[in-house]
Amino acid sequence: MSPDTLVSDKKQAEARQPAKPLETTAAKLKDLTARRKQISLGGGEAALKKRKKSGRLNARERLDLLLDPSSFQEMYQHRKHRCTNFGMERKDLAADGVVTGLGAIDGRPVCIASQDFTVAGGSLGEAHGQKIVEMMKMSLKCGSPFIMINDSGGARIQEAVDGLNSYGEIFYHNVLASGVVPQISLICGPCAGGAVYSPALTDFIIMVRGNKMFITGPEVVKSVTGEEISAEQLGGADTQATVTGNIHFIADSDEQAFAICRKLLSFLPSNNLQDPPSRNTGEVDLTEIPALDKLMPDSAREAYDVREVIRLVIDGGDFLEVMEHWATNIVIGFARIDGNVVGIIANQPLVMAGVLDINASDKASRFIRFCNAFNIPIVSFVDVPGYMPGVNQEHGGIIRHGAKLLFAYSATTTPKITVILRKAYGGAYLAMCSKSLGADRTGAWPTGEIAVMGAEGAVPIIFRREMEQAEDKEARRQELLDEYRVKFGNPYLAASRGLIDDVIQPRETRRYIAMSLRALQSKRDLRPPKKHGLMPL
Ligand code: HXC
Repeated sequence: MSPDTLVSDKKQAEARQPAKPLETTAAKLKDLTARRKQISLGGGEAALKKRKKSGRLNARERLDLLLDPSSFQEMYQHRKHRCTNFGMERKDLAADGVVTGLGAIDGRPVCIASQDFTVAGGSLGEAHGQKIVEMMKMSLKCGSPFIMINDSGGARIQEAVDGLNSYGEIFYHNVLASGVVPQISLICGPCAGGAVYSPALTDFIIMVRGNKMFITGPEVVKSVTGEEISAEQLGGADTQATVTGNIHFIADSDEQAFAICRKLLSFLPSNNLQDPPSRNTGEVDLTEIPALDKLMPDSAREAYDVREVIRLVIDGGDFLEVMEHWATNIVIGFARIDGNVVGIIANQPLVMAGVLDINASDKASRFIRFCNAFNIPIVSFVDVPGYMPGVNQEHGGIIRHGAKLLFAYSATTTPKITVILRKAYGGAYLAMCSKSLGADRTGAWPTGEIAVMGAEGAVPIIFRREMEQAEDKEARRQELLDEYRVKFGNPYLAASRGLIDDVIQPRETRRYIAMSLRALQSKRDLRPPKKHGLMPL
C-alpha cells in the first residue's frame, strides 16, 4: 500500500467517526437510529424528491412493492466502500448504492438486491458488488430464489478494477446458483456494458419499458460500425422482447414487472431439491373439455391458435407465457393442470405454420432445461410441419440450433408428456419430445399425422416417375396423395408400432395429462454419471 493511500484512508476514517465517543447506551441507540435514517435516505432527500418528480420509484419503494408487507430484513446496510480515488474518501455512499436483504413473496423466502440510482448512479464498486454476492451466497445456503433489481450506471469508474472484480464474482455466483435456485433479474433502470451479463446469466429477465440494455450505446456503435440507431431501437425493452430474445417478460411499469415476478415465482420451487408448488387436492380431475373436439380445422392447411388448446386444457385458463413476443412460432410458459405445475411447449400453427427454426429451437430448449433443473414436468403439444428450410437458416446454423432441442428433451428427466394434435413430421416430430427422446406418455388426437413428411411433399419424391408416365397426371397425383394420406395421414401407424401409447379424443386431453402426471409423480430416471453433457452451440 502506498503512503498516499494510507493518508487518504486515515482521512476517510476520520470523516466517518463521531467527534467524541458515545458514552451512554441511550446515545448509542440514538446513533443507530440516526444512521439507519441516513442510510434509508439513499442519495439524500433532494435526490429522492427529484426522483419522485421524475415518476421513478426508488430502490426501497421497489422492495416495498415487490415483497410481502413488512417482510424485508435489510443486510449489510452499514457496508462502506474503501475507495480513495478522485475524492471518494469524502463520499459516504448510503448502503453503497444497493439495498440488500431477505424478504418473502407469498410467504416464501427470497434473497434480494435493489440498486439505488440516487447513490452514485447505482454504480457498482467493490462493496456494492460484494453485498450482492453475499445475497447470492445466502440464496444458495437457504435454497431461496435470488432476485436482482437492476438500476445502475455500471462499473463505478473511480473504483477501477475493484468494481470489475466484483462483477466477475457476481457472474461466478450466478453460475454457481444456476439450476440450484431460480434467479430473476428485473431491469428497472440503466443496464449497460458488462453489467448486462449478470441478468443474461439468470433464468428470467423482466424488463420495464423506457429502460435500455446494451453492450455499447448508440455513440460507440456509430463510431465503430458507422451505423446510426436510437438507444431505444438498439436496446429498448421492445427490441429486447421482439428482436433479440434477450428478455423473457416486458412490463409497462415497475409495478407490472413486480406482479409478473410474483406470478412467475408462484409456479417455481424455491430450489432444485423441492417440487414446484402444487395445488393438487389428491383427487384426479377427470373433467372432459368438449370445446376441444371442435377446435381443429378440417383442412390441414388451416391455422388455429394453439394457445386456445392450452387455455382450455389448463386450470382456469391461467397461462404465464414466457417470451411471448419472440420466436412466436413456438409457445412456452407455465401453467397448472389438475393443480400440478407444468411447463408447456407448443408449436404455434398461426405463425409460419408452427415450423421449427433457429430461434424457436433456442427458445424451447432453454425453457426445457429450466423445467428439468427445477423438477417441473413438461407437456408438449405438437403440430409441426418440420424444421425450417432456407439459406438463412442453414447458414445461421439450424443444424446446431435444432440439435439443442433434441439434446434438451433427451437430457430431461422430469415427467415428459407429449400430445400430438396434428402434424408431426420428420426430424421435428422427433424433436418435439417423441417417445424415442424419452417421452413418458405420448398421446395423439385422431387428427394426428405422424410421418416423414406431408403428402404434398412426399408424393412428388417417391412417385415422380409414376406421375410423369401417367396419362392423366393430375388424376394420378390425386390418387397417390390419397393413398399416402390413408397410410400415413393418421396416428394409427405410429400407434401400431407403439410409438404413441394412445389415440385420445381431444375432449379427453386434460384428463389424459392429469392422470399421466399422477402416474409420473414418482418417476425415476437414472443416467450414466458424468460431469456434464455438451449441449450443441
Ligand atoms: C461512477 C457514476 C457512474 C459510474 C453514473 N454515475 N454512472 N459514477 N461510475 N459508472 C454517477 C454520476 O457521476 C452522477 O453522480 C450520478 O451517478 C447520476 O448520473 P447522471 O449521469 O447524472 O444520470 P443520468 O443523466 O440519468 O445518466 C445515467 C447514465 C449515465 C446514462 C447511466 O450516468 C452514464 O452514462 N453513466 C456511465 C455509464 C457507463 O459508461 N458505465 C460504465 C460502463 S462499463 P453525481 O455525483 O453527479 O450525482 C461497465 C463495465 C462493467 O459497466 C464490466 C463488467 C464485466
